[in-house]
Amino acid sequence: MKKRMLTGLAALGLAASFAATAHAGTVMKDGPTPYVVVGGVSVPKPLTDKPGDPANGRKVVANRKKGNCLACHKIKQMQDFLFHGEIGPELSDIAANMPADEMRLRLANPKVVNPDTIMPAFYKSKGLFRVKKKFRGKSILTAQEIEDVIAFLRTLK
Ligand code: HEC
Repeated sequence: MKKRMLTGLAALGLAASFAATAHAGTVMKDGPTPYVVVGGVSVPKPLTDKPGDPANGRKVVANRKKGNCLACHKIKQMQDFLFHGEIGPELSDIAANMPADEMRLRLANPKVVNPDTIMPAFYKSKGLFRVKKKFRGKSILTAQEIEDVIAFLRTLK
């Protein structure tokens, strides 16, 4: 009887420590600054203190040297740009379907959510292979550009 109670208590302790780990999240160190992934799908804390600028986010999405998101995603609100790809899901109503916390991980490193994805990890700067000298140690997008893109995606509904 006593033994069973102790096992129960140990199990409770284990569950509590799991919960604590899940809550604390996993620190990702593959980008210019570390960030915390919670529950394997979201990054609740913004990468910068400055709020995202949706107008600049739209520019980053369209810019072929930056997001180039239209190469793979259709966005109805961006008909001023031609030739939207259909490799990835349409993003025209993404604000209604995905919280900002989850968009942040999708952009920073979508491989955490789907290891087989062909979508680039826009905030990865370490562990890249054969990078030209001028791009070494840099992510495709800066922390602020990621926050700007999220602010723009939040207008798509
Ligand atoms: C090379 C193609 C490619 C590029 C470039 C790309 N993505 Fe993606 N994206 C995908 C694919 C494919 C998926 C589908 C899920 C997966 O494979 O992980 C996806 C998924 C997403 C999702 C989740 C959509 C959902 O409904 O679940 C978001 C949000 C997203 N991308 C945003 C962006 C943004 C913003 C950019 C530009 C900064 C971008 N993507 C650039 C291919 C791409």
